[in-house]
Amino acid sequence: MREPSPDRHPHAGEPFTDSDEAIAAALEDVSIPTLMCSMVHLTGDPAWIRGEIRPAGLFLNEYQGFMDEEAKAEVRRLALPAIVEYRDNGCVLPEAQPDPALLHEMMNFAGCAEIPDDVVPMMLDEMALGDTDVNRITWGDEIDAGVRADFPVVVIGCGESGLLAGIRLKEAGLPFTIFETNAGPGGTWWENRYPGARVDVGSHFYCYSFEPSHHWSEYFSRQPELQQYFVDVMHRHGIDEHCRFGTEVVGATYDESTGTWEVRVRAVNDTDAADPASAGGDIETYTARAVISAVGSLNRPKMPDIEGIDDFEGPSFHSIRWDHTVDLTGRRVALVGAGASGFQIGPAIADEVAHLDIFQRTAQWMFPNANYHEPVPDGQKWAIRHLPFFGRWFRFLQFWPGSGGDLRSSRIDPDWDDSDGLSVSERNLATRGFFEGWIREHVDDEELLAKVIPDYPATGKRTLQDNGSWLRCLTRDDVELHRTGIERIEPNGIRTVDGVLHEADVVCYATGFQHNRFLWPMDIRGRGGTVLREQWGERPSAYLGITVPNFPNLFCMYGPGTNLAHGGSLIFHSECQIRYIMGCIEHLLRAGHRTMEPLTEVHDDYEARRHAEIHRMVWSHWSIRHSHFKNEDGEIYTLSPWPIHTYQQWTKRPDPADYLFT
Ligand SMILES: Cc1cc2nc3c(=O)[nH]c(=O)nc-3n(C[C@H](O)[C@H](O)[C@H](O)COP(=O)(O)OP(=O)(O)OC[C@H]3O[C@@H](n4cnc5c(N)ncnc54)[C@H](O)[C@@H]3O)c2cc1C
Ligand SMILES: NC(=O)c1ccc[n+]([C@@H]2O[C@H](COP(=O)([O-])OP(=O)(O)OC[C@H]3O[C@@H](n4cnc5c(N)ncnc54)[C@H](OP(=O)(O)O)[C@@H]3O)[C@@H](O)[C@H]2O)c1
Repeated sequence: MREPSPDRHPHAGEPFTDSDEAIAAALEDVSIPTLMCSMVHLTGDPAWIRGEIRPAGLFLNEYQGFMDEEAKAEVRRLALPAIVEYRDNGCVLPEAQPDPALLHEMMNFAGCAEIPDDVVPMMLDEMALGDTDVNRITWGDEIDAGVRADFPVVVIGCGESGLLAGIRLKEAGLPFTIFETNAGPGGTWWENRYPGARVDVGSHFYCYSFEPSHHWSEYFSRQPELQQYFVDVMHRHGIDEHCRFGTEVVGATYDESTGTWEVRVRAVNDTDAADPASAGGDIETYTARAVISAVGSLNRPKMPDIEGIDDFEGPSFHSIRWDHTVDLTGRRVALVGAGASGFQIGPAIADEVAHLDIFQRTAQWMFPNANYHEPVPDGQKWAIRHLPFFGRWFRFLQFWPGSGGDLRSSRIDPDWDDSDGLSVSERNLATRGFFEGWIREHVDDEELLAKVIPDYPATGKRTLQDNGSWLRCLTRDDVELHRTGIERIEPNGIRTVDGVLHEADVVCYATGFQHNRFLWPMDIRGRGGTVLREQWGERPSAYLGITVPNFPNLFCMYGPGTNLAHGGSLIFHSECQIRYIMGCIEHLLRAGHRTMEPLTEVHDDYEARRHAEIHRMVWSHWSIRHSHFKNEDGEIYTLSPWPIHTYQQWTKRPDPADYLFT
């Protein structure tokens, strides 16, 4: 195999020499709408998307545009000779590559609708169809080496956000250290090793925009593959040498006299311990000009406040601290919690255990995803790797339907009669009908239906995806779903409020995380000794979710108000945040300022707008009684209500007028 030339666009596909038969076989596996877009690049001819054959519709995680077999076969028949000719010509792309207007037309074709003008720039950036990586830092060399050397940065956490921060800081030529409690990178995907753990955002979208994506073995990758991905990316970008694993940041204090942060860290004695951060060594102090918090938001386990929880005599653990030394074979297992984690755990262990009792406080909305557990066929992988921009258009097919439409059905119509607490608008009611219809297709037992059909509006919590595995699991004889409340935990099981004891050998708590406690439990002290924990209390907030008044040069990734309930990949959000943060650092270095923090009025205005918008969305609706999005008072400080292209535009670069500099 020839090596791609260094100046070949990384998404143009690697050159290939496969036989006609091998190519024909690969085409049997591919997404046809994606192939048609790729053919425009490969041939330079827009006719591929202007003919009668076109996708009939678009639905998230459906990759064939609902095209019939005849139409798909015809596209394959036409594509094969063109691909063979391209191969025979040495895989040289035609000079006439699509201009922005044609790319927009191609988006409309693949998306089966007019993609709004204001979304197109985000898609062009995100798909890296022109520039290879629009967010790559290219200004490093323009700034004096001494100035850069005098700007050490501490990054806290090495999940996808911290790793990304490392990649950009390295491109900028800045000194930096990433402190990470765990023994390796990946954060969420290092820690969540429970059976069945996998993404629910398609892997070709839930990955860095600037990295190749032809390697994913499943459309929704499982934890081990995700963990390995982050390890590989870390090595590829040479970030390992900047990482201090097994090291916890316990606090950071801003020194006004020097405009620097004193960051306190300590070695973690046992990174495999149930709570690695619980015990540590001596405190060391690092001085930094800026601190980037990439500590995540869904990793501090929340145990339920249930009487007798410590009395249970068998093994018990939280989903994020799954104890793989406990053999579940032939044992009675109680699973408390049926959110996104419980939803994956139940079907994954049902075959192994003797009996599974699932305690579900609130039913979950879900929608169909036939590809949820499917492998990526070899031909599709081949096409992503070799056909020009195929991988980019495949990413588009996951990105676009997963980022826009749902917001509309999540918006509360103030004129809608919501007194039954079941819907918030006509569109939301229609979504409910669709979701409910799918549940009814899989369950005909009225007793079970009463338990699994949620009693709150569709999309009111994070909507889950199912290929039938969850609902099938619930219909098994050896699985029982309980909607009756838990009274207490006893030494040998769980007693529900109806007085029944459900005996268990093992209890797993899939009860979620301390989502409202950002940068917790670190002790962060800013200007004038302001304690972050006190400034925030139960109402954490940051301008754009990134910068905080009174905390100069402290930047958050996945900070307050940036979680996504309506779709989109959090890696996309991280790319927005780090671009903005690097813009801040660039401004500091070029302008010769020491520090920056957002003006209070700018922060307050943003937060007021975010809050008002959140109140217009279903997640804040009174009918949602329990949700990890809400704080103790039922208010939401965790979520972003913005369409993701809006957030992307706002975070393109900082506006110095929003900031106070020293
Ligand atoms: C089971 C699960 C599945 C998910 N699936 C999806 C999905 O399909 N799609 C999606 O978009 N999102 C998903 N999410 C959300 C997920 O958290 C984000 O996608 C993403 O992984 C967040 O990355 P992060 O780097 O910001 O935070 P994390 O992955 O949480 O990483 C934060 C890191 O910071 C470290 N850290 C924290 N505090 C300290 C400290 N004081 N000192 C040193 N290190 C510290 C932690 O050890 C951790 O490694 C999922 C979350 C969970 C829990
Ligand atoms: N890729 C994925 O598919 C995936 C997988 C796992 C997690 N995630 C991410 O992580 C987030 C958290 O997911 P999660 O499932 O770990 O947590 P979660 O969504 O907060 O779900 C926790 C579950 O535990 C229940 N629960 C909490 N306290 C309880 C109590 N005292 N008694 C009884 N039940 C209780 C909750 O019931 P109520 O609903 O009534 O509160 C809910 O069913 C998700 O929103 C998602 O962002 C994603």
